[in-house]
Amino acid sequence: MRVLVTGGRGTLGKLVVAALTGAGHDVGVGTRTPRDECDVRYDLDEPIDLDGFDVVVHLASDPMRPERDVTGARHLVEAALAAGVGHLAYVSIVGVDHHPYPYYRAKYAAEKVIEESGVPHTILRATQFHSLIPRFADAMGSFGFVAFPTGIEIQSIDERLVASRVVDLATRPPAGRVDDMGGPETLDLLEMARNHVHANGRRTPVIGVPIGGRVVRAFRDGIHHTSNRQGGTYREYLDDRPPTLPRIARGFRWAGMVLGLTVLVMLAAPAVFHSDFAAYGAFNRHFIRDTATFAAPMAAALWMAAARPRWRLPVAGLAVFQNGLHVINHLIDVGGTEPGWHGPVNLALLVAYEAWFVFLLRTTVRPETHPRVPAVTV
Ligand SMILES: NC(=O)c1ccc[n+]([C@@H]2O[C@H](COP(=O)([O-])OP(=O)(O)OC[C@H]3O[C@@H](n4cnc5c(N)ncnc54)[C@H](OP(=O)(O)O)[C@@H]3O)[C@@H](O)[C@H]2O)c1
Repeated sequence: MRVLVTGGRGTLGKLVVAALTGAGHDVGVGTRTPRDECDVRYDLDEPIDLDGFDVVVHLASDPMRPERDVTGARHLVEAALAAGVGHLAYVSIVGVDHHPYPYYRAKYAAEKVIEESGVPHTILRATQFHSLIPRFADAMGSFGFVAFPTGIEIQSIDERLVASRVVDLATRPPAGRVDDMGGPETLDLLEMARNHVHANGRRTPVIGVPIGGRVVRAFRDGIHHTSNRQGGTYREYLDDRPPTLPRIARGFRWAGMVLGLTVLVMLAAPAVFHSDFAAYGAFNRHFIRDTATFAAPMAAALWMAAARPRWRLPVAGLAVFQNGLHVINHLIDVGGTEPGWHGPVNLALLVAYEAWFVFLLRTTVRPETHPRVPAVTV
């Protein structure tokens, strides 16, 4: 069967594409940025040609611009009618018919467009995925804190379960609106965020914001919950997956960034570097640039080792060795700077670097164990 999965690179899309491909179907991956030959350019804002597709699984969605989901549904049903597509499967969200949240209202409007189009279809409503709060928390965490409204519980579900249900439905005859599916328990957003943050060994503060309003009230009322409870718990899901960026990886990334910044100053302003950071003897622009050129690959290797666990041991070992020699060099000339306090300060900084690199090496050899995830409150 030839299937187009719109949003095929998204959280659910990737799982659905993998399962359909594994089952032997010919899958087109709908995305705004096609890269591979199985990719099909797809934009909610633009008409699409569905010639040759038997089934469309519609997962593309833009919560930031909800009206696009309605436009996208219109384009899709027009194309499906023109091409005689036999089945359009759409994934929606539990409670969208009663919820004031603009994104959910748009999902409901998209459902209506599909239902009233005459295209043979299946509509499955699911609750929020287990990955949703970790995704939000990671995005906010880069600003140094995570904040969610207080008093809201969601009934999150394992997206792998949703994906297998979507594949099952999409490969059967169209069934109209099918039973909603939701996770096994309802959990407080703040607890979910804290559990995710802790599971990744972070200390990012998770803050409850006591806001009100119609949308928040609807979430507090639990309009988005269902009595159909399925699949594994959020806690099991967190335990199952590797931490997104463990402490050790962040250590490498920061080391690469700090060294990289030093390299930038050396290359862009060697005279400033000499006078303000390291005035050992006469100023030699060429020497400073050479040193920066040697340090640059080390900064890049440290940065790249963050995402490449196999690089960490050689890179940390090299950093300890290279910086160790650097420390000895500065120890020899500690009194040779002008002004005199530069020498000891430089030495102290390099010793701090060395301690950092030794920590990275030690933690790479003996990986940290993650703190136990506190129990989820139900
Ligand atoms: N996440 C949840 O908790 C949850 C719960 C219940 C139901 N759902 C529904 O399940 C579906 C999939 O959700 P998801 O969380 O897997 O989504 P996701 O990870 O955010 O992926 C959505 C995909 O939509 C595509 N997209 C975004 N804007 C687009 C545009 N203007 N035109 C074309 N494509 C666009 C993106 O693909 P490219 O960047 O590759 O173009 C992206 O991969 C959605 O319909 C969602 O409403 C989600």
